Amino acid sequence: MEVPPLVVDRGAPEPLAVQVASGLRAAAARGVLAAGARLPSTRELARLLGTSRTVTAAAYDQLLAEGWVAARRGVGTFVVGLPAAPRGGERVVRGAGGPGRPRGAGGEEVLGGAAGEDLLDLRAGAPCTEALDRTAWRRAWRAAGGRPPDHLPDPRGDGAFRAAVAEHLLRHRGLPAGPDDVTATTGTSAAVAEVAALLPRGARVAVEDPGYRRSTGALRAAGLVPVPVPVDDDGLVVDAVPPGVAAVVCTPAHQFPTGGRLPVARRAQLVARARAEGLLVLEDDYDGELRYDVAPLPLLASLGPDVVVHLGTTSKTVSPTLGAGWLVAPEELRHRLLAARTEVGARPPRAGQRVLAELAASGDLARHLRRLRRELVARRALVLAAVEAAGHRAQGGAAGAHVVVPLPSREEEEDVVARARSASVALGGLAESCLASDRAGVVVGWAAPRRSDLERGLERLVAALRPT
Ligand SMILES: Cc1ncc(COP(=O)(O)O)c(C=O)c1O
Repeated sequence: MEVPPLVVDRGAPEPLAVQVASGLRAAAARGVLAAGARLPSTRELARLLGTSRTVTAAAYDQLLAEGWVAARRGVGTFVVGLPAAPRGGERVVRGAGGPGRPRGAGGEEVLGGAAGEDLLDLRAGAPCTEALDRTAWRRAWRAAGGRPPDHLPDPRGDGAFRAAVAEHLLRHRGLPAGPDDVTATTGTSAAVAEVAALLPRGARVAVEDPGYRRSTGALRAAGLVPVPVPVDDDGLVVDAVPPGVAAVVCTPAHQFPTGGRLPVARRAQLVARARAEGLLVLEDDYDGELRYDVAPLPLLASLGPDVVVHLGTTSKTVSPTLGAGWLVAPEELRHRLLAARTEVGARPPRAGQRVLAELAASGDLARHLRRLRRELVARRALVLAAVEAAGHRAQGGAAGAHVVVPLPSREEEEDVVARARSASVALGGLAESCLASDRAGVVVGWAAPRRSDLERGLERLVAALRPT
């Protein structure tokens, strides 16, 4: 039951019932009372407000007549929509399915089903939640909830989670790490921010260009200076990393967003430079578990455990809902990171970690990963065929859940993104990921939509990609 804050003023000229009705209407318009919320009974609300029940019953009658609340006999009165015509100045927060396109903190449109019924969301970065077996998901949350609460403020994270991650790293990424080598994080971007805070303020840090802008944002927020380094079809051009940087942030398994896989020789070269020049390498392995017909390459962390911080996340393989990621760092850095957490009492929340541990323990995680790969392979084939049908060649599709379609100019990129947008297809342009480079193209992802929507909607992608 939801009781929004309501004030009734007996001295005001408006009748009390009108005041109660407008208070509830305003609460719904502000989103305080969302669709599905149950209102208190007229008796309960009268008691809370110190009015007679006649007042609250009259207010409810008015709202029922307006149609955005509904009474279910014997159950209660529920919000079923949004009140019509909010008065001037009231901000309407639209729920799922509303015509507005919700935006995230970074100004980007929020991923997921809330952006309009027909929207085919082909932006990179979302997980494939359709592949997640809901029964397994519920079972894991139930099992996690069955574990008694405790008060151990372990800044390293949950022990069962760290053990599950160690097993996962060995099995899927070939990295021999024990549970004590694993530190829980709340995700990769947050982990970049934590590591960045340990570097001297003002230090220069090499980042891939194009690259993941959240990493660049985390570095800037920590007072560091990102230095763009070009990438080619194979990923980071290690030779182009300038001398004097304190760290390098990179995505060797699947360069984001251009998709290159850093060859072994460049990996070895990067680790050798890190050792010789005393720089730290952050290996963002955001979708390293997802690979198609290509052999795995050794992680930077296995080539240089003394100079590499390996960062993993459940955001792409399971769901960002978990807020669970991990890092494996050189010992001295790990101690500094844990000391910094302890200093301020920060610790990654353990609920999502426990759910992942349960998914791993039951075998559901392994089943899910197999199923996810099968699903993504099938979707990838559909997208590659669509890109080809439009007369283009996709790049960077050996891993992950997106490709880049290079275009001759930024104008063309903007045109394609706009044409797609007007056909309700959401695409990212390369411009979003560029710092100094001026590459042009669009990034096409296939994890977010439902498979059936993807199958039905790809024609619209083909049309948007076709030269006019
Ligand atoms: C390159 C890259 N790194 C990291 C992440 C995000 O990881 P997390 O959700 O754990 O911060 C993403 C997600 O889009 C990504 O594309």
